[in-house]
Amino acid sequence: MLSDAFGRQFTYLRLSVTDVCNFRCQYCLPDGYQCERTRNEMSLEEIGRVATAFTQLGIQKIRLTGGEPSIRRDLIEIIARLRALDGLKTIALTTNGYKLPQKVSGWVEAGLDALNVSVDSLDARLFQSLTGHNRLREVLEGIDKALSLGLKVKVNSVLLRGWNDHQLDQFLAWIKDTPISIRFIELMQTSDNLAYFKRHHVSGALVRDKLYTLGWREVARSPTSGPAVEMVHPDYAGRIGLIMPYSPDFCRRCNRLRISSEGNLHLCLFASEGHSLRHFMQNDAQLSQLKAQILALLQRKSEGHQLHQGRTGMTKQLAMIGG
Ligand code: 5AD
Ligand code: SF4
Repeated sequence: MLSDAFGRQFTYLRLSVTDVCNFRCQYCLPDGYQCERTRNEMSLEEIGRVATAFTQLGIQKIRLTGGEPSIRRDLIEIIARLRALDGLKTIALTTNGYKLPQKVSGWVEAGLDALNVSVDSLDARLFQSLTGHNRLREVLEGIDKALSLGLKVKVNSVLLRGWNDHQLDQFLAWIKDTPISIRFIELMQTSDNLAYFKRHHVSGALVRDKLYTLGWREVARSPTSGPAVEMVHPDYAGRIGLIMPYSPDFCRRCNRLRISSEGNLHLCLFASEGHSLRHFMQNDAQLSQLKAQILALLQRKSEGHQLHQGRTGMTKQLAMIGG
């Protein structure tokens, strides 16, 4: 089992397969993806090896992230490669929903279990202003298709003052009969979005308080539940999760590690550096070295991020590492 110096156990890996994204979310890539240097993404083979190492060390769930992971031409092969791993229980994918109706059945056939789709607004015009794409209808159609194919679906919605903080009712109406989990995520400061952060950050506690008055209740936590606060209501088919990285005990429940698309281990989303594992991914014979390196690096994971002090580490925007 992977555990760190503070007794936290790690069962969940977020694996970025590209840092390229075709959306222009205001808080992430407002000017679109800027190709500053040649892309140097892990190959299918390298991804297979790093996933094997983590799974043998006790990782039970891998989430493929980006940028936008569906930009990878070999995404279906990547999913199938993960599916073949012994011991991996869940393969999840986070997407912006671009062309989701056409793509999702291929992912399910390859072995995908769960899907997270970003929907920051249920108003088509606001959605377009926030993401740069007039695609809300397509994204919602894709979510319906994913549900009909039996995928577990979560929706990510970043809380943004002035944009969607008045839209809680619309989101609630959606999950009355639809069995999805909406995760309201507090906007996080990165080195690129400081002015935006100051203007639009809203505390998730406001949403939690409002939900309490409407009869929603927190689900009891298990030792393995991650940092999200989960809420349920007897009259609703869906659930709500609150992701509040600025709340005091957020890091204490951290159960996740991250690999960037270039094969660097990030011990925290806001760590000051990534640690390259790439040179141990070059052939199958290096598996035990790769595992030993992961175990050694994990001891360097710090107790918490320093977002409260405004220290955002090396993260320019979350597309770099997949959130
Ligand atoms: N703060 C909070 N969430 C963010 N995401 C991207 N950038 C930020 C940020 N600065 C979200 C995306 C997506 C998920 C992977 O991360 O909206 O849903
Ligand atoms: Fe792309 Fe996600 Fe960043 Fe939006 S938040 S620009 S979808 S990487």
